[in-house]
Amino acid sequence: MEKTFENRTAFITGGSRGIGKGIARRFAEEGAKVAVIDINEEALQEVESEFKEEGFDIYCKTANVVDFEQVEKAAQEVHEQFGSLDILVNNAGVIRDNMLFKMTESDWDTVMDVHLKGSFNAARACQKYMVEQKYGRIINISSTSALGNRGQANYATAKAGLQGFTKTLAIELGKYNITANAVAPGFIETEMTQQTAARIGISFEDLVKASVEKIPVGRSGKPEDIANAVAFYADERSSFVNGQVIYVAGGPKD
Ligand SMILES: NC(=O)c1ccc[n+]([C@@H]2O[C@H](COP(=O)([O-])OP(=O)(O)OC[C@H]3O[C@@H](n4cnc5c(N)ncnc54)[C@H](O)[C@@H]3O)[C@@H](O)[C@H]2O)c1
Repeated sequence: MEKTFENRTAFITGGSRGIGKGIARRFAEEGAKVAVIDINEEALQEVESEFKEEGFDIYCKTANVVDFEQVEKAAQEVHEQFGSLDILVNNAGVIRDNMLFKMTESDWDTVMDVHLKGSFNAARACQKYMVEQKYGRIINISSTSALGNRGQANYATAKAGLQGFTKTLAIELGKYNITANAVAPGFIETEMTQQTAARIGISFEDLVKASVEKIPVGRSGKPEDIANAVAFYADERSSFVNGQVIYVAGGPKD
């Protein structure tokens, strides 16, 4: 694989599994030093030993994106250890799906906190290094749910909010050679979609089957599909692509 990200450091939130791990792997394979923060300590340990065994440079830290001090400390350690912090991927996410009348205040707050405050915290912590070095790539993981999705008033709102956040960062940080863009995935096979199947009481296989029927390319998405779009934005050569949202869903929606 081309070593597009040699001498670059990528910081990925929620990167211990699923889409985030796929993104971390893509960066590592293309020569980047990779930093992963997550609240899932066990999965974090797994990804650390797996990547180290393969000879990749990896930093892992248990940190909650909702807590600014934890994120700031991790960003500082990454910068000290690897010498730069070039790419931030705001990927950490949770779902607390329910129809509006059943959605609790805590379902709402948790989703807002992790997606919105979490991305705000990580962007705030990392921009400092990016501005200093006059180079940066911020990539936020939105969702097709930003366009509206039954049972996801909280999540759809947060994912739409992330798109506004992305465009604003693009405007504010562009002059420092920092771009901000978003990837909005459709149905991707991960533990998050497994959780959805469990909640609605069907097997994961059946959920995948039902989803694929609506996807024009006739297959479900994999973390690598999202990593590919992230890698495009993160590429130094994509410096004129700023404030954009790319839907990666096998079609225009779903
Ligand atoms: N799977 C899909 O179909 C899909 C579609 C659209 C968007 N997304 C988005 O992609 C991103 C990754 O989702 P995934 O499917 O890989 O889910 P996942 O549940 O497999 O992974 C999410 C990761 O985020 C971590 N995390 C959660 N809260 C955190 C916090 N407060 N601080 C730090 N880490 C935290 C989790 O521990 C987990 O490792 C999310 O933002 C999700 O909303 C997923």
